[in-house]
Amino acid sequence: MPIIYLNGEYLPQEDAKISVMDRGFLFGDGVYEVVPVYDGYTLGLEEHIDRLDKSLASIHMQATLSLDGWKKVLNELLERNDKKTGEHSIYIQVTRGADETRNHAIPSAYQPTVLAFCTPSKSQPRHTLEKGFSAITLDDTRRRDCGIKAITLLPTILLYEEVKKVGALEAILIRNGQALEGTSSNLFVVINDQLLTPPLNNQILGGVTRELIIKLAKENDIHCLEKSISEPMLHDASEIWMTGSSKEIVPITKLNDKPVGTGKVGPFWQRMIDYYQEHKLSIRK
Ligand code: PDD
Repeated sequence: MPIIYLNGEYLPQEDAKISVMDRGFLFGDGVYEVVPVYDGYTLGLEEHIDRLDKSLASIHMQATLSLDGWKKVLNELLERNDKKTGEHSIYIQVTRGADETRNHAIPSAYQPTVLAFCTPSKSQPRHTLEKGFSAITLDDTRRRDCGIKAITLLPTILLYEEVKKVGALEAILIRNGQALEGTSSNLFVVINDQLLTPPLNNQILGGVTRELIIKLAKENDIHCLEKSISEPMLHDASEIWMTGSSKEIVPITKLNDKPVGTGKVGPFWQRMIDYYQEHKLSIRK
């Protein structure tokens, strides 16, 4: 039976319960994070907790645990669930907690609900990645404040149903003619031997993986520009990648049923996936 962290306690999943008046349950009033873990070592924990605290501040909530506090919780969860080896993710969720009754207004005092649990990781082995994946473009129907990692994911879930229907891996979301990001990943493209990713603003989530790729590009003399990517630019790209903590760096070789570039994984991806794997090894210290 999986062990869940809930409000300071470690409980078997069937005993981890929240009130039906929890504002996360009633309104989706909460935020989350997904932290990748390799052989017991977290990747980018500081950045994930920093983003969690920023998401909390954006919804007028205070930080719950300190970075050290979270480190202890994650470690304890991995140990109690016997997940100190292999690839896993830890899901963290903080909601505004239970009110006395359903009421839109934010209560003046509340006790947040703080939840964390281990979940299987979805990254693919290299030989599978090398075959490439397909994506489709879809109109971005999400709310405007996509920089907040909110648990309110209904538009995302409905968009992902369209992706599943056509058997693709991801959708690249388009708003006002601009390609922004995936339903649960950031977007990188290569155009004329230049690596590009859309700039940070409230239309996309500031991905921890995105930031790491920008850093790895810089360290390895790959010029990466944070620049808007219009729909025609997307269709001209020689490489497209979707990136995220659970996906890592996925090469898209088919967009809307048409080949991307040569239709095979490209040289920029081949280099970046090596840098990424090296970085994953370097965290085990
Ligand atoms: N999704 N954009 C969106 C909309 C996301 O939901 C995510 C992550 C990302 C990538 O962020 P990061 O590199 O920090 O994982 C970009 C998580 C993994 C999820 O919803 O499960």
